[in-house]
Amino acid sequence: MMLIIIAGVSITPIINNYRDGSVMRTIAHDQHGEARQVLHLSEKQPPPAPAPAAGQVRARVLSRPIHPGDLAGVRGLPDAPQRRFATPRIPGLEGMGVVDTIGAGVRHLRPGQRVAFFPVPGAWSELLTAPADLVVPVPEGVDDETAALMLVNPLTLLRAVEDAQHSQAGPVVQTAAGSSVGRLASAAALEHGIPLVNLVRSGPGAQTLRQRFPDLPTVSTADADWRTQVRDAAGGRGAQVVLDAVGGSLTGEPAGLLDDGGTLITYGQLGSGSTPLESLVLTPRALTVRGVSIGRWMSRTPEERAEDVAFASRLAATAPELFEVAASYDLADFAKAVGHVRRPGKSGTVLLTSPAP
Ligand SMILES: NC(=O)c1ccc[n+]([C@@H]2O[C@H](COP(=O)([O-])OP(=O)(O)OC[C@H]3O[C@@H](n4cnc5c(N)ncnc54)[C@H](OP(=O)(O)O)[C@@H]3O)[C@@H](O)[C@H]2O)c1
Repeated sequence: MMLIIIAGVSITPIINNYRDGSVMRTIAHDQHGEARQVLHLSEKQPPPAPAPAAGQVRARVLSRPIHPGDLAGVRGLPDAPQRRFATPRIPGLEGMGVVDTIGAGVRHLRPGQRVAFFPVPGAWSELLTAPADLVVPVPEGVDDETAALMLVNPLTLLRAVEDAQHSQAGPVVQTAAGSSVGRLASAAALEHGIPLVNLVRSGPGAQTLRQRFPDLPTVSTADADWRTQVRDAAGGRGAQVVLDAVGGSLTGEPAGLLDDGGTLITYGQLGSGSTPLESLVLTPRALTVRGVSIGRWMSRTPEERAEDVAFASRLAATAPELFEVAASYDLADFAKAVGHVRRPGKSGTVLLTSPAP
């Protein structure tokens, strides 16, 4: 058993056998590195697990997304000293499954119920134990695939988009706009009347996004005059906010799209390399750079988190097309699944699945 601390709460994922005695599978790693090299599958039939403690719930996990952040967690921070972690470490914080057993005092869940969960370390195993308040019933009519990824992506930029909206009606530009998170941000921008300009890296990617969101301007950085196109689409001025998932050595590009006084929100690192802070000309242009991480979500109040979960559940029920699944792979095929996550032009999120009991 291992103890993992995330944003101030400790959660205990447990590798166990299911009560019917069937073998439970787990994907884990003992060292940081390239996912396909360090991840391994284990199949075990350990001794029966104790019932979940008060306030906890045990669930059989049926489906979980592979987020870019999960792979980054396996890789570790490239330039940072390797942090020690309890081994084997099981990746994954999000997923869906069926409640197996509930601990004392758990009122909103019952055995057999379909549930989604986040943030619960150990999602890439087939059985886990979690605090019941991090486990939510899957809304009626929402299928298993949508339920498996209904929490992280909609919540990632929710507050950032709201902040952008409150900071007085300037244009917002987002990079990697064809990503799963980017498409949710597009839907939120349309709903809130935020003047969003979408930026993608290829002509075909731009075409796909224009078909999906015909009311939002989409520009491809493959066009030589893409900066002019972005400025035109933003009404002839710089952006007030740029939502950037690319980062790395290209950070100067999105920062260069900002109006003086604007804010660069960085929330991903799809690119590579790094950019010196000085080259962003922050001081004379009075720019703000702000990091956003779903890993900080537990620091929100319980009321705010309940609101966020209600928002995500509503979106999953009313707009399931925003939760596109690129492909589903059995847990044992994790290496192929990881390869698919990195495929250029992929649309949607890759899932790792387990057979229903
Ligand atoms: N901060 C957080 O808490 C948080 C939470 C969730 C996700 N994220 C981040 O959000 C980003 C998107 O995640 P996702 O799951 O939505 O991704 P996704 O669905 O896998 O989509 C990835 C997208 O990024 C584009 N892309 C990949 N490499 C690129 C590059 N070097 N330059 C420009 N575009 C590139 C791809 O474009 P093509 O179609 O051209 O291949 C694709 O549209 C990731 O960086 C992820 O780490 C952050």
